[in-house]
This record gives sequence, structure tokens and C-alpha cells, in this order.
Amino acid sequence: MGGRRVTRGGSSSRWLREHFDDPYVKRARQEGYRSRASYKLLEIQQRDRLITPGMTVVDLGAAPGGWSQLAARLTGSGGRVVALDILPMDPVPGVEFIQGDFREQQVLDRLLECLGGCPVDLVMSDMAPNISGIKAMDQPRAIYLAELALDLSCSVLAPGGDLLLKGFEGEGMEELRRGLRSAFRKVVTRKPAASRPRSREVYLLARGCIL
Ligand SMILES: C[S@@+](CC[C@H](N)C(=O)[O-])C[C@H]1O[C@@H](n2cnc3c(N)ncnc32)[C@H](O)[C@@H]1O
Repeated sequence: MGGRRVTRGGSSSRWLREHFDDPYVKRARQEGYRSRASYKLLEIQQRDRLITPGMTVVDLGAAPGGWSQLAARLTGSGGRVVALDILPMDPVPGVEFIQGDFREQQVLDRLLECLGGCPVDLVMSDMAPNISGIKAMDQPRAIYLAELALDLSCSVLAPGGDLLLKGFEGEGMEELRRGLRSAFRKVVTRKPAASRPRSREVYLLARGCIL
């Protein structure tokens, strides 16, 4: 899944070794991005031209801010990026940030209030639950976060708007794809090079909201 399972001994030290040898971690440090996740969005951006100047973008599960940094750069001074995470996030220039649990109604209300009815061009969600290592618990949690992001998209996206959603292949993903297909013109799956090959992580890109 997206998070790191911290265990004593083997897998934790393997994670540290992999992390420091990781070319995307090194590149992020050199290029001033807060996370290696930036390169997942960057690859999708280069292929699919998702973000253009002047767009309004909602970034769910934004911390530490790699996607927000890139979105703010691509939308430019005429655009708007509203980011949300359960964790705190150091300010990113040009990004409005809401801290809270996206599963809570009052957090959703704060996000809607912040948007103030402004139509959104792109909702992107890189949210991933903390993993327990128990697949039967982790997968439904991940699917639930993705479904909530889809619900939000259906109410805030401008006609023709797009949704980029992190998912994990497994139970519930086909239903999620079906839900996306009923609300968008086209749905494709992306697995950027920066997404670790052994992870079931994929990104569902739903284009052209038809609701
Ligand atoms: C993979 S990280 C996102 C990385 C980010 N896209 C970047 O580029 O830096 C996943 C994020 O989802 C957040 N998250 C998980 N559950 C959440 C929830 N219920 N509400 C809000 N954020 C959540 C986590 O706190 C974490 O920061």
C-alpha cells in the first residue's frame, strides 16, 4: 500500500536502504520537491497534460506537499490549489491548506466552504491509509478513501473536469472503475515509473466529468 509498515529488524532497515538509494528520492532532494511522489504526478502530467495554467485543483492527501508544489507551479498565478491532509503540512507558496481527516463531515464542509462554489477543474487524491499489513482491513480502507474522493468530485468538478485517484489493485477496484466510468467520459490506469513495481498501487485517471 502507500504507507510504510514499520517493523523491527529486516523490513524496516530494507526500507531505509531502498529509500536512500532511490533515484527519485535523490532527484527530489536535488530539484527541491518534498517527496518522490512528485515524479509520479510529473510522469502523468507529461503523458496526459492534466494541469494547465489557470486551473483550480484540489489535492487530497497532500502532505508533505510534492504534488501541491507541482500543481502550484503548473497552474501559475492565475490558478488555485487547495490541499488537504490529516497531517500538518509546511506552507507551499500559492497553496491553500486544510488540515483534517477527509472522512469527517466537518472537514469536508471546511473544504467546500474554502472552495466557495468555485468550480474545480481537477481533483487529485494520493490519499493512502496507514497500513496495518492486514490486507482484509487495508484494502477496504483504501477503497473507501477513493470512493469519498469520487463523491467529492461528483459535486465540485466543473463539467468536463478530471479526477486522478490513487488505488491499490485488489478487491473493490473493479467496482471503483465502474463508478468512475459512470461519471466520466474516459477512465485509464496509469502506473508511473516512480510507483514501486512490487506495490499494487496504481493511479486511475478519469477524464471529462459528465455529471
Ligand atoms: C502518499 S502520501 C501523499 C504524498 C503527496 N501526494 C506528496 O506528493 O507529497 C498519502 C497522504 O494521505 C494522507 N491521508 C491518509 N488518510 C487521510 C485522510 N483520512 N484524510 C486526509 N488525508 C489522509 C496521509 O496523511 C498522507 O500524507
